[in-house]
Amino acid sequence: MATEPSTGRGLTVRRARPGDLEQLVLLWRQFHTSHYRYDRDYYRLKPMRQALAATRKHYAVRIADRNAVFLVAVEGRRVVAFLLGTLGFRPPVMPRTRTFSLNAAFVLPRLRGRGVFSMLFARLRRRLLRRRRVKRVELLVDVHNPAVTAYEHLGFRKLHYKMIQVLGTARRQVRRGQVEG
Ligand SMILES: CC(C)(COP(=O)(O)OP(=O)(O)OC[C@H]1O[C@@H](n2cnc3c(N)ncnc32)[C@H](O)[C@@H]1OP(=O)(O)O)[C@@H](O)C(=O)NCCC(=O)NCCS
Repeated sequence: MATEPSTGRGLTVRRARPGDLEQLVLLWRQFHTSHYRYDRDYYRLKPMRQALAATRKHYAVRIADRNAVFLVAVEGRRVVAFLLGTLGFRPPVMPRTRTFSLNAAFVLPRLRGRGVFSMLFARLRRRLLRRRRVKRVELLVDVHNPAVTAYEHLGFRKLHYKMIQVLGTARRQVRRGQVEG
């Protein structure tokens, strides 16, 4: 597949390849552990070696998966950002609308705020519109993640809340007056 030079950032956006796997696993580790600040318990991993092995296997499958889009931005031979999503369908009681789930997006911290994710997302949009007749792109993001603003800048809007109650703590919090809303 042809690669696509960036506009002035010295980066190339292309599909992920099996040869990218080791770099992707290391980026995934940074991606995942950066979420600890939002909810350490929710994002808790198996022992790291197991988690890395599982990710390697999962990403190898996704790279070959025709229903997935796995894009990387590379600087020379270095993978500096990636985007991964999969095609899905809505529940069968609804009209069949093709929905694409954006599962992960990560840019190395030193390159953030310089349009790298915008490049990846533009490429994704083109692919989805051209080849897959997708009507919607959806994603889950932590409410305090600055990525929310990035997604909004790219045209996403908030539609649902995902709500979580940690069993055993809610009643105590209510008694102490810590629960709002
Ligand atoms: C979210 C992330 C992928 C964005 O990548 P990025 O390359 O920095 O994004 P871009 O530079 O392309 O910015 C896209 C738009 O969002 C805005 N934006 C990006 N980061 C922002 C921030 N922290 N705060 C406010 N706006 C932001 C940009 O100004 C730009 O808007 P514009 O086109 O109107 O100027 C990157 O910050 C990241 O890797 N975060 C850590 C991993 C993560 O949490 N991923 C999301 C998990 S759901």
